[in-house]
Amino acid sequence: MQEMPLRRGLMVWRYMRHTENCCRFILEIVEKVVDEIGSGRVGIRLSPFSNLMECGDSNPDALGIHMVRSLNKYSLLYCHITEPRMTFNEGKLELPHRLHEMRRVFKGTFITASGYDREEGYTDLVAYGRLFLANPDLPRRFELNAPLNKYDRATFYTPGPIVGIVLAPLTRSRSFGNIPQPHAILFYSQRTTRGGLLISEATGVSDTAQGYPRTPGIWTEEQVEAWKPIVSAVHEKGGVFICQLWHVGRVSSHVYQRNGQAPISSTDKPVRPQIHHDGTVEEYSTPRRLRTDEIPLIVNDFRVAARNAIEAGFDGVEIHAAHGYLLEQFLKDGANDRTDEHGGSLENRCRFILEIVEKVVDEIGSGRVGIRLSPFSDLMECEDSNPDALGIHMVRSLNKYSLLYCHITEPRMTFNEGKLELPHRLHEMRRVFQGTFITASGYDREEGNKVVEEGYTDLVAYGRLFLANPDLPRRFELNAPLNKYDRATFYTPDPIVGYTDYPFLQPSQDSN
Ligand SMILES: Cc1cc2nc3c(=O)[nH]c(=O)nc-3n(C[C@H](O)[C@H](O)[C@H](O)COP(=O)(O)O)c2cc1C
Repeated sequence: MQEMPLRRGLMVWRYMRHTENCCRFILEIVEKVVDEIGSGRVGIRLSPFSNLMECGDSNPDALGIHMVRSLNKYSLLYCHITEPRMTFNEGKLELPHRLHEMRRVFKGTFITASGYDREEGYTDLVAYGRLFLANPDLPRRFELNAPLNKYDRATFYTPGPIVGIVLAPLTRSRSFGNIPQPHAILFYSQRTTRGGLLISEATGVSDTAQGYPRTPGIWTEEQVEAWKPIVSAVHEKGGVFICQLWHVGRVSSHVYQRNGQAPISSTDKPVRPQIHHDGTVEEYSTPRRLRTDEIPLIVNDFRVAARNAIEAGFDGVEIHAAHGYLLEQFLKDGANDRTDEHGGSLENRCRFILEIVEKVVDEIGSGRVGIRLSPFSDLMECEDSNPDALGIHMVRSLNKYSLLYCHITEPRMTFNEGKLELPHRLHEMRRVFQGTFITASGYDREEGNKVVEEGYTDLVAYGRLFLANPDLPRRFELNAPLNKYDRATFYTPDPIVGYTDYPFLQPSQDSN
């Protein structure tokens, strides 16, 4: 055996065997933290009886008492000790209450936790975990002795719980140089409510992904850093923030591409010029058809971008496989004219998207990955001859990945007896998809409430209404009047006008 240098050996000895030595490391931390910020700002949590992660002690009572006695000299803010596991006694779960002696020895505020309900307690304070998690108004419920919500263990570590209405992804064209800007902090945090789900504007996965002015990316370190404060602001208000990952494919021109190259696509057929609402015409360059051996490189761009999104703090990503962009250019037979394994049959046309889903799931975990599809859309000349079959095949294929959600936009609204109506064509996809389902496009408060109530969907994402009403959830709650959106400022570069200056309800309108 190699001899341990004497000094190092002595150092190690200081931290082992005897209770005193075993406590030394913690006490050194306590001492330094107290020195740094003051004893009145430092609490500690201990669990002498726990054997979690194979950390059991042969004499937990002695250990606990020694620890709290040693802590007394620091006059900490509190000492917080978890109880041993509950035990069965005459068929009833009981708390063992093994902390009496520690409570007696500790000269300060004592907090206990683990397994408590409203009735129990022999301490100064009780910390509640699972009950508080499932009952945001737990103190009030305890006060009234009201019934409690049950917690859902399956959602403890998912990026949820997701509640209320969803912010649909909204390109706002205010990310100069493809870098998310500080003004986005206000835009997103204005639209954040506790537990609310926000999907970011479409965000480019690489320098071949862009096709519009001032859209953000997430392929460089600078972009990742720039997203961080925006994501933090949403988290501070309790929101769940998903980054929509995007590649425009042929909906681009050489001016958006590195060295003026041609945009890439499933095809070499260009999109015809599009006339915008304001009468301006957008022209697109003839794309270069991706070679089969290049496709894994694009898949990899999505994987890396997903990793970057997590690095930026996002709770997950939404793979943008909708609205005529690159992924749909593969998916739909109106655009995909390939003859390799990515063209022809439905299975072949879905392959590219499913490869992306698989790699992204492998990279960041299925509970962090959602997808957006629009089987009925014909945007950017991406139309399919059988959108129902396409949508159903896609969601069935997605089931094996246990995604966070599937988000599908409705077909365009139709006129019926002079009234605009939503066609509600997603019933079968909703039935087949085994997970959280989100719909969008054309919904208002009544229609959204109705489809959630009927079980047609789990959640509804709102685009234009949320854009124009930063407090949309509150307005829906009160059935308050809504601001009208201003289409002319959807994509203008102003960091305030048409962006963060839509008014909130006045206090006089929000009297409840
Ligand atoms: C200004 C604007 C920007 C949009 N940007 C995106 C986008 O980045 N990604 C996306 O998937 N959909 C985008 N959409 C579509 C919306 O997410 C949504 O599906 C659409 O507005 C229909 O829903 P609504 O009737 O609630 O507005 C955009 C829509 C608008 C009006």
